Formats: sequence, structure tokens, C-alpha cells
Amino acid sequence: MMFTARANSNIAILKYWGKRDERLILPTNNSISFTMDEQLSTVTTVEIDPSLKQDELHLDGKAATDKETVRVTKFLGLIRARAKSKTYARVVSKNSFPKATGMASSASGFAALAAAGAKAYGLSLTEQELSILARQGSGSATRSIFGGAVAWQMGIKKDGSDSHAVQLSGESNWGNLRNVIAILETEEKKVSSRSGMKTTLETSGLFGARLDGVKRREKTIRDAISKCDFGSMAQAIMEESSNMHAVMLDTYPPITYLNDQSREIMYLIQELNSSRGKPVAAYTFDAGPNAHIYTTQEHVQEVSSILRSVNPKRIIESAIGKGIQYLDEHLA
Ligand code: PMV
Repeated sequence: MMFTARANSNIAILKYWGKRDERLILPTNNSISFTMDEQLSTVTTVEIDPSLKQDELHLDGKAATDKETVRVTKFLGLIRARAKSKTYARVVSKNSFPKATGMASSASGFAALAAAGAKAYGLSLTEQELSILARQGSGSATRSIFGGAVAWQMGIKKDGSDSHAVQLSGESNWGNLRNVIAILETEEKKVSSRSGMKTTLETSGLFGARLDGVKRREKTIRDAISKCDFGSMAQAIMEESSNMHAVMLDTYPPITYLNDQSREIMYLIQELNSSRGKPVAAYTFDAGPNAHIYTTQEHVQEVSSILRSVNPKRIIESAIGKGIQYLDEHLA
């Protein structure tokens, strides 16, 4: 039997950058994101097969690298332990966006794998349990189980059983919210988020102050989401992004993901907002230079044309999307 799930990527406005437990992937703070639409998604089929001597992974039409297969096998091991199974699986996975767009694919990738894998091994998990499982593949994947606005509650328990995502509001709740994305670089990042956040925790003197700031911004952002009030969260989103990139720079050796185009975009969005006398767009950047501009539908054209002025490789306009979906059509 084959099982197939689709998960959409998510882009955080309150960022996860730091683990308090490396093995269980438990974060140092709560984070908040919006789930994107299907333009940024992963579809994964999992089939268990007693004749296999090891797991088999096909990614975007090709046999996966050893490194990718090891990570997937380790993750499937968690599901097998829970299902008390020793059978290996064939996994076929496809990203809707080219891997080389430099977009985070680990969030949608591990969320889809958790959902399809749990079904294939006969586990029936709640969304909360799936979120806990996906977290152990990649931290950001914990949020992609749900659609709309999503918070990852860091939890306080040592075993991670209270560290999972919850939905703050459904995907249709804020129908005119958009993320206009400028793809600036397509190369793999030089410092992985896993090793980067570990070094930040070990070396950044500013990190403690960041955690206080995150708590303040969390209040503002939660309040704005509950009212669908873009203007009151825009500044917090931009401050949060800059704060994360500031502790990255304060890391030794320093981590720099932003490039000149990213900084130009920050400047142009600030200019747009001051020309309007109110915030109409807010930038956020993850572990790479690509710009994510949250805005509302009526400003999408204008934001896109601003982004085009810095010559991006590609622009994607994403609406807010759904959580995990199970599909009847399987990837062969
Ligand atoms: O994708 P992960 O689990 O390695 O974490 C990446 C974290 C950021 O994208 C930089 C921020 C976030 O909260 O998604």
C-alpha cells in the first residue's frame, strides 16, 4: 500500500534560531509563521516493502544522495520504532519549486514525509503528534503540519512532548495576505541552519537579549494576527528579521546570509512604507538572501515591481495555504 501527502512550506515572521536540545530539536523560543500555498510544496509517497534491504529515496526524479538518504532513514527509524516495524520503505518525493531556488525545502519535505510515512506504517496520529514527529526531521517542519497562521510552542518538558505547533488562525481567515518572494540566489547556503544556530548559541553575546525581544514581538504579532491587522505587525516582522541576522553576524565565525540585493530591498520597502505614511509591506529573510515580503493583495503589483528593480532570478507571489493534505494519486 502506498500513501501520499502534500505539505506546504512556511515562512516565519517570529524566527526559530537556536536549539536547547540538539537531538530532539527543541527550540530556545516560540516561533510564528504563515503556511504558503501550493507553489511552495512537497508531495511525498511512502510505500513499505518487505523485499527492501534498506530505504530507497527518489528526490525530484533522481536517486537521492547518500547524505539525503541517511537523514530520511534516520527519520523513518523514528516511525518504525513507534510502529514496531523492521520493514524498509520506498520514498518518492517531489518539490513544486526547483530545489535550486534556494527556498527552504526541509519544512515541507519533513512534514510531508512524517504524514505519508506515519500512514504507511499504520500509525494514526493526531495533528499534534504529527507536528512532534515532523519536528524531529527539521525544526521548521513542525509548523507545516497546519495551514494559516501557526505558532510553534517551544514547550518546557525534557522529552519534547509539549514542543509542537498549534494553528493560530485558518488559511481562509486572512484571505488577502500575500508573501511576494524574490529569489536572488539559487546556490545551496554555505552554512547550514543546523550548524549556524549551534555556533550562534555558543558564541553570540547578543543572543540573550534577542530572547527578550522575541517575547515582546511575539505579543505584538499574536495580537495583530487575531485582528488581521497588517499595519500593527509589519514593524515587528522587520525588526525580528534584522534581529536574527544581527545575532548571526555576532556569531564567531560570523554568519552572513544577506547580500547587497537583500539590503537594497530592505531600503526600498522602508521607502515604500514612509511614502505611504503607514506600513504596507514587511520584509523577512531566513538562512539565505532571498526576500520574503509580506503584504496585502492590493499592494502586490507595487511590491513586485519594486522587487524587479533589483533583478531577482524569479518572483513568486504566494497566498496563505493549507496544512497537510492526503492525496489519492501517488508518485511512481
Ligand atoms: O529549516 P530548519 O529547521 O533548519 O530551520 C530554519 C530556521 C529559519 O528558517 C531560519 C527560521 C524559521 O523559523 O523558519
